[in-house]
Amino acid sequence: MSQAELKSSATSDWNAAAIRDRFPILKKEVHGKPLVYLDTAASAQRPDVVIDAVTNFYTNYNANVHRGVHTLSQEATDLWEAARKTLRRFIGATNCKEIIFTRGMTEGVNLVAQSFVRPRVGPGDKIMITAMEHHSNIVPWQLVCEQTGAELVVIPVSQQGEVELDAFAGMLDERVKMLAVMHVSNALGTINPVVEMTRMAKSFDIPVLIDGAQATPHLDVDVQAIGCDFYCVSGHKMYGPTGIGVLYGREELLEAMPPYHGGGEMIRTVTFEKSTWNDLPAKFEAGTPNIAGGIGLGAAARFIEEVGKKKIRTYESGLLAYGTRRLLEIDGLRIVGTAANKASVMSFVVDGIHPHDIGTIIDHAGVAIRTGHHCAMPILKQLGVAGTARASLGMYNTREEIDVLISAVEKACLMLR
Ligand code: ALA
Repeated sequence: MSQAELKSSATSDWNAAAIRDRFPILKKEVHGKPLVYLDTAASAQRPDVVIDAVTNFYTNYNANVHRGVHTLSQEATDLWEAARKTLRRFIGATNCKEIIFTRGMTEGVNLVAQSFVRPRVGPGDKIMITAMEHHSNIVPWQLVCEQTGAELVVIPVSQQGEVELDAFAGMLDERVKMLAVMHVSNALGTINPVVEMTRMAKSFDIPVLIDGAQATPHLDVDVQAIGCDFYCVSGHKMYGPTGIGVLYGREELLEAMPPYHGGGEMIRTVTFEKSTWNDLPAKFEAGTPNIAGGIGLGAAARFIEEVGKKKIRTYESGLLAYGTRRLLEIDGLRIVGTAANKASVMSFVVDGIHPHDIGTIIDHAGVAIRTGHHCAMPILKQLGVAGTARASLGMYNTREEIDVLISAVEKACLMLR
């Protein structure tokens, strides 16, 4: 794709070419064709500032954090804690004690399931999720239910892929001890009404956890405006490194919770008889953390802020509308997930053609999409498909890339029919 073509995507306050220039991998060719990366929901690409932050750490500051009096360790600690401050601002937490670095969104859910919910539930209690959750917001709760005798209850989702709010309202009662819901669906693209759902849950004093893995790259997330108790962030979905994420938790809840992992750094004193715990956030950060990952994630958050969260949302919404319209021009193609409020994701099936075959063939045109169940088997089963082909957008995608996708899918359909 030429620079001139890319510039045609530029609007007065959005320069797609300039954004794309910040992502070195987008210059790559696949099978001799320019890479068209439409798999951001699986893992976003990294801008230069994230790659530089990680390289700079290993080149100039590599040492353990919170463990050394020497200069290098103090510099590493400063960078690590600066990243925490950035993430605090990025999601609107009250203070840095509420920002726990994790391995990713999955670890955040497991931490809350085991340290917050497990000690508080027993037979007769309920843990509530929606029918569209990712496996990482299903299985940790199933484990707690097996451990405690609590029951997992599932809020129905319509065939369009929207939470049925009336049914949800009717399911709320004082036996519900946790509501866990994804902010944006990775399989369908639905943006869930998390503010309204949190407000409804709070009228029964139900704690609320939001899986924000697919939200922070695309929406302007403010945990205080949502009013939730926990919010899980995935680093690599928001242009940061893999193996790093953030769990936001309200300070008073985190204070009252027992540690999740035991080890170094999370303790104040250790004897063979008894150990005592460090203050927040260290209490939940046992062992040497992914220091370069956290620093890289801080750089990713700053990058998103610099580009502008609202501008990203506006640009990507236009791209999503364009892509959806163009895909629907393909004979026999059906979009899976047609909620009124969506972000980033275009999941589709084509009559008589297996999604894996589409994905494999269009890879030869340089187009990267994900095919399969997207770690959301229950909702795909409800919607009557075993899998979909999924094109998912990031800030670096363009209308011209959508056109490449469409022509590649059309060619694949001709070959496969
Ligand atoms: N959850 C990731 C996806 O949707 C891996 O692809």
